[in-house]
Amino acid sequence: MRDIVMAMTSSRIREVANASLKNPDVLAFWFGESDEVTPRAISDAAVASLNRGETFYGHNLGLQELREALVDYTRKLHGPIGFDRFAVTSSGVNALMLATELLAGADDEVVAVVPVWPNLTQQPTMMGAQVRRIGLRPDARGVWHMDVQAMLDAVTSRTKVLLVNSPNNPTGWTLTRDEQVALLDHCRKTGTWLVADEVYERMWFGPGNCAPSFLDISTPDDRLIVVHSFSKSFLMTGWRLGWMVAPAPAIVQIAKLIEFNTSCAPEFVQRAGLAALSMADDFVPALVARLKACRDLLLSELQALPGVTVAVPQGGLYAFLRIEGQTDSLALAKRLVAEHGLGLAPGLAFGPEGEGWLRWCFASREPQRLRLGVQRLSQALKL
Ligand SMILES: Cc1ncc(COP(=O)(O)O)c(C=O)c1O
Repeated sequence: MRDIVMAMTSSRIREVANASLKNPDVLAFWFGESDEVTPRAISDAAVASLNRGETFYGHNLGLQELREALVDYTRKLHGPIGFDRFAVTSSGVNALMLATELLAGADDEVVAVVPVWPNLTQQPTMMGAQVRRIGLRPDARGVWHMDVQAMLDAVTSRTKVLLVNSPNNPTGWTLTRDEQVALLDHCRKTGTWLVADEVYERMWFGPGNCAPSFLDISTPDDRLIVVHSFSKSFLMTGWRLGWMVAPAPAIVQIAKLIEFNTSCAPEFVQRAGLAALSMADDFVPALVARLKACRDLLLSELQALPGVTVAVPQGGLYAFLRIEGQTDSLALAKRLVAEHGLGLAPGLAFGPEGEGWLRWCFASREPQRLRLGVQRLSQALKL
């Protein structure tokens, strides 16, 4: 077995959650998903596909109809982008892995904006690349910021890939348009590929339909790969369906990598994806409105607790909080589950930059659960 793999730590979120996954007494807010099931119309499309016998291998890059629907969906958000720039993938995390396999080999330098969902940094590590972590920093109110100059200084002509996730999991930090322009311009100068994880672009509480995207400011030839997922916007985490947008020549290479990884996304899952896109115009804004209500409820409850620092996130599914005097997030998260039935993700799971913080997913069908969770936190820590 490879030393690199043996040396990797497994997910700290799983470490906290595993023992209590099916425990009905635990209020679980540790994973990045809603407790709402996938809409029936989406599931029905998958069932109908299976019943039609669509159980065979398909095109590496996905069903023609689904890629066309993605072109249409993307055009409404970001303007026209060519069909040959889309690849359907077996989840967002699979799209990220494919991008990594395409771009980052042994000893290549990858710069990552952190804290971040650990898969983003573990994948290049798995490939043998060297990951340099450039930290966002919180201010006294718990709002996270990027030092743009430090970021530009970190990315040089030696840097193969800049990895950035915005809206960010776990902090909710979101790149501004000016920051995006600065990063993209700089990557053009250094010849660095930019891999933008925009899976939370619709989970956006600011003006407009989605968070600022690199797709709005890029050209078809830019060394840019944008990663997307059906998981969050359509309540489809368990389906494992995503996509990526890349320069057309990169998509040709990605098709080979898909063949050697998964060969294709399952057709019935892609049919579900098609149904999801067909209802996106109404469904996604309604989902985001429900999420915003959850966010506002959780934040107002948390901000009322003494000793808690937490900022209202602009995007994503998470509140990222710090509690005065608490510095060991893993021990705290384990204690909260074991003794108080409250399931949160430890900030350490997102790297050392997240130590001392906790991540709370506020996507819930029953906002009352959030209130109950805050009561448990307040009792646990005598706040
Ligand atoms: C930042 C980020 N990127 C990508 C993903 C992957 O999503 P999926 O693999 O479910 O499509 C997640 C899931 O939590 C995430 O938080």
